[in-house]
Amino acid sequence: MSVLSFRDVSLRYPPRAGLRAANDDRFVLNGINLQVASHELIAIIGRSGSGKTSLLNLAAGFIAPTSGTIAVDDVPIQGPGADRAVVFQDDALYPWLNARDNVAFPLKLNGVSRAARHERAQQLLELVGLGDAGERHIWELSGGMRQRVGIARALAAEPRFLLLDEPLGALDALTRSRMQELLLRVQHRSGAGAVLITHSIDEALILASRVLVLSPHPGRLTAEIEAGFSAEVLAGTPTEKIKASPSFKRLHDALTSLIHSLPNEAAA
Ligand SMILES: Nc1ncnc2c1ncn2[C@@H]1O[C@H](COP(=O)(O)OP(=O)(O)OP(=O)(O)O)[C@@H](O)[C@H]1O
Ligand SMILES: [Mg+2]
Repeated sequence: MSVLSFRDVSLRYPPRAGLRAANDDRFVLNGINLQVASHELIAIIGRSGSGKTSLLNLAAGFIAPTSGTIAVDDVPIQGPGADRAVVFQDDALYPWLNARDNVAFPLKLNGVSRAARHERAQQLLELVGLGDAGERHIWELSGGMRQRVGIARALAAEPRFLLLDEPLGALDALTRSRMQELLLRVQHRSGAGAVLITHSIDEALILASRVLVLSPHPGRLTAEIEAGFSAEVLAGTPTEKIKASPSFKRLHDALTSLIHSLPNEAAA
């Protein structure tokens, strides 16, 4: 089992040269403490600008914290690595490669032979329900299909952690709901730990075992709610039934009022 941990992490972006604004020295994130274990899917929810993407970029190793430590199994993160895979809000697929070669790309970087990566990419495409789409160009795929290719690609290098930044945000409601279930099953099967950034309270509660609230200026994790509905989803209970249950509604209300009690963006 692996653990991704944030210890007393703060982040302040360097001021832009020549354009120093009065609030440039503000911390974007402050005092972040967080642990995510393998097999676990946690959700982070917060207003626009609260620092969610920044937090994910720190975990990915794209940027370094101003203070504190981010580590996988107590080994501090030095930069991006194959142990952590990112799925972005807008699919970041390579348009010059077909679906299969997109999925196989991380394996190519790892030096896996052509035949082996072809086979693995095909398995992953089947896992996300796109077994027949390997030869298709990216522009021949719908938005939902592209996100599935993105998820398959993220799983290709068998990461220990999936970092998901609003991966389903651009999809229509029906596709999104189907994709939520698929994401949960795929993550569960892979055994990877996952951090899911979302704006949707429903999505956070349905998918995550814990929902954390990031409050803005500076971004701090101010509340944590245990959900646990994902086990029911995995057991085959329809999500509409779960969402209609009194326990779901209670947590939904609690989370809604927590988020509404946060300071306003405009007030910052
Ligand atoms: N590279 C950067 N350089 C300077 N400031 C940045 C940079 N990236 C983000 N910021 C600032 O940090 C704050 C948090 O941004 P971030 O993108 O992490 O928010 P977010 O919670 O992901 O928002 P959203 O929900 O809109 O995606 C914002 O004020 C933003 O302007
Ligand atoms: Mg963001």
